[in-house]
Amino acid sequence: MKILVTGGAGFIGSNFILYWIKNHSEDQIVNLDKLTYAGNLENLKSIEVNPNYKFVKGDITDSELVNKVMEGVDTVVHFAAESHVDRSISHPSDFVITNVVGTQVLLNAAIKNNVKRFHHISTDEVFGTLSLDDSNKFSERTNYNPRSPYSASKAASDHLVRAYFTTYGLPITITNASNNFGPYQFPEKFIPLAITNIIEGKKVPVYGDGLYVRDWLYTEDHVKAIEAVLRNGKVGETYCVGGVTEAISNVDVIKKILKIMGKNESSIEFVKDRPGHDRRYALDWSKIKNELSWEPQHSFDEWLEETVAWYKSNESWWKPLKSQVETDLNKLWGGDEE
Ligand SMILES: NC(=O)c1ccc[n+]([C@@H]2O[C@H](COP(=O)([O-])OP(=O)(O)OC[C@H]3O[C@@H](n4cnc5c(N)ncnc54)[C@H](O)[C@@H]3O)[C@@H](O)[C@H]2O)c1
Repeated sequence: MKILVTGGAGFIGSNFILYWIKNHSEDQIVNLDKLTYAGNLENLKSIEVNPNYKFVKGDITDSELVNKVMEGVDTVVHFAAESHVDRSISHPSDFVITNVVGTQVLLNAAIKNNVKRFHHISTDEVFGTLSLDDSNKFSERTNYNPRSPYSASKAASDHLVRAYFTTYGLPITITNASNNFGPYQFPEKFIPLAITNIIEGKKVPVYGDGLYVRDWLYTEDHVKAIEAVLRNGKVGETYCVGGVTEAISNVDVIKKILKIMGKNESSIEFVKDRPGHDRRYALDWSKIKNELSWEPQHSFDEWLEETVAWYKSNESWWKPLKSQVETDLNKLWGGDEE
């Protein structure tokens, strides 16, 4: 099978490629990535000379290039996106261009090239926000209610993907995943920013009152969910993919990290809140569990320890990215999750 991965030099895309090459050595992978600030070929150093792997630097909005790289492709796994909520507040048009227009360019090329499966990676942020005292969770049946330029652009891309299934019969699947964490996550995001700040002896910024609640999914669990959907998912369907966290607030996540790293809570610094900050996300992933037998493999605490250990032993990966993050984040609002 020949797979086109878009955004494969980013956090989740590179974890996907490393996993796929290791576990599906018969498949060929083409990685199309523009190498924005979030794309990093260092993530893929260990497989760059693998004969089944090819990197193409390019933009998913470039229809001529996209049509060319899609020749002979069986499956598209579409990760490429602008992904940071804070950046979407300061630069919304970048998000519309890549996330909406880019997705549409890929969909057109997928039809033209008779792609057998177009798998679109999306987020639970399209569903909006839940209140802290609400026991409901988001599921595949929840109405869309995006509230940031990032989630609005992802919602638009999801709608386009479904429209191409209904209108043109393109065989699509979608996964809406919760907040990811794990190796190779750019250190502007909430968990790696906290870990790397603690290693550097700096304060850890926490937005507002710190009581925002996210559902945390380890990247490898996410990658295995995508594998399950590619293998046995039903064409035209959407699957929600979440972790095993139960109502852990952002400040509690930081406290856990500090504890793992043997530090006290004096490094927590509450900073000005993000505008329109979604209070709580929670995801019901019973559909993918019941239909495809997927579930997260370890607890949040175990994966968090693994993640701390990874950042501790990979300083050479994140150190060069950190000074850029600090300049950028000073211009934005501070660092938070996805
Ligand atoms: N990180 C999360 O917590 C999370 C959760 C759910 C869903 N998602 C979705 O998963 C996907 C991947 O997220 P991530 O965290 O790995 O993002 P990321 O920002 O780490 O990586 C995005 C990658 O896309 C590439 N890219 C950006 N614009 C491009 C363009 N125009 N053409 C080609 N390549 C381009 C970047 O260079 C980068 O390598 C996104 O679609 C995101 O919406 C992320």
